[in-house]
Amino acid sequence: MDRIAIVGGARLHGEIPISGAKNSAIKLMTASLLTEEPLHLTNMPRLADTRFLGTLLTRLGAIVDEREGPAGSETILHTPEIVSSFAPYDLVRQMRASFNVLGPLIARTGQAKVSLPGGCTIGARPVDLHLKALETLGAQIDLHEGYVYAQAPRGLKGAEIEFPFVSVGATEHAMLTAVLAKGETVLKNAACEPEIVDLADCLNKMGARVEGAGTPVIRITGVARLSGAKHAVITDRIEAGTYAVAAAMAGGEVRLTNTRADLIEALLLKIEEAGAGVERTNDGVIIRRNGARLKAVDIDTGVYPGFATDLQAQFMALMTLAEGESVIREHIFENRFMHAPELARLGADITVSGGEARVRGVEYLEGAQVMATDLRASVSLVIAGLAARGETVVGRVYHLDRGFERLEEKLGACGANVRRIKGDAGPETED
Ligand code: EPZ
Repeated sequence: MDRIAIVGGARLHGEIPISGAKNSAIKLMTASLLTEEPLHLTNMPRLADTRFLGTLLTRLGAIVDEREGPAGSETILHTPEIVSSFAPYDLVRQMRASFNVLGPLIARTGQAKVSLPGGCTIGARPVDLHLKALETLGAQIDLHEGYVYAQAPRGLKGAEIEFPFVSVGATEHAMLTAVLAKGETVLKNAACEPEIVDLADCLNKMGARVEGAGTPVIRITGVARLSGAKHAVITDRIEAGTYAVAAAMAGGEVRLTNTRADLIEALLLKIEEAGAGVERTNDGVIIRRNGARLKAVDIDTGVYPGFATDLQAQFMALMTLAEGESVIREHIFENRFMHAPELARLGADITVSGGEARVRGVEYLEGAQVMATDLRASVSLVIAGLAARGETVVGRVYHLDRGFERLEEKLGACGANVRRIKGDAGPETED
């Protein structure tokens, strides 16, 4: 298994171009199952997660063509026919969001057998809201031996679905299914994340009729068929936020491009409150810190436009060196503080109690060997390593490779001392 070694202390100066969003790309790839025509996605990130999903989609009948175009990476997905409606455990467990093939398979073929994804290290992550939504749209669902068996022999019918709480995945799954259902579907208490808007935009280019994405009420008028389309994946706000925190941690001046400051406003306000400079630009944001110590600030994670749970671990790393005590409350996932004991190995002073972590800033961190159990937790250790004395070696890099494209290269281009230590091929599993 590869590891990443970071020698801390270098200030960062330069530019980091932000990739297309992982969490949008994988839903857009799934949308390709809804049409027999090609879906052409540009600004595609090249990540382990998009590879996993490509493998599954290929099994289902897609031809997945990855290319380098003039404006970056592109993927053309073409599924003239669904050759199998079976998504096996081995593939779904590698990447939970593969579960979202269920709705499109039912919509296109009237039946599907898809593995339940199981739990993951950040929480139990049930899929009850997904299943309820599909049932409301007319699918018959049976669960046996870890699999969802779904049928809609008489087709799917539009319906009103009110989510009891906000779920990004369930909102997307309901949208991906309802676009081909007969009649109107209204999603209430829908997620408002930018990735939902991106999915709606792409579906509408394919001929769907989706209105209201980005608000809590989404109206979908079903159509008989969808066509191919060309769509650019939205910028990865979590990648942008991660490098914004990295720059604030290491100090220096970093310009993030190919992104949008408005998508990470909740984070930028906290970075400013902590004392770093933030300049919002036409194509992103510039983060500056001249060396003065940051101040501790509190955060509460929340649904968009609140502070993203996917940036919580990174912000905790930043707070380990801030002056004072920061209270970090996690409201989305019940077990998302697995990075705290690893940050403590670097010298951080953190107490976790339930969904709350108290981080008392220390004078310095010291490099050590660490590892993490999920993607965002791993990158928080890299961020801590940028400011730690000596060398930090982060294990289980396969987590990072799932969601950060060319991380060492992007940070290295700004002067960070980061290198990959090649190891044996290891397992690539989990959330
Ligand atoms: C998406 O997960 C993202 N993943 C997550 O990013 C992100 O943290 C999360 O949204 C919140 O923003 C992808 O887009 C692939 P949810 P998702 O459904 O859709 C509970 C990363 O690091 N819930 O909004 O799975 C659930 O357990 C990942 O890139 C149910 O109880 O999140 C959680 O507590 C990690 N029943 C809460 O809702 C359900 O049926 C919100 O989850 C569905 C969800």
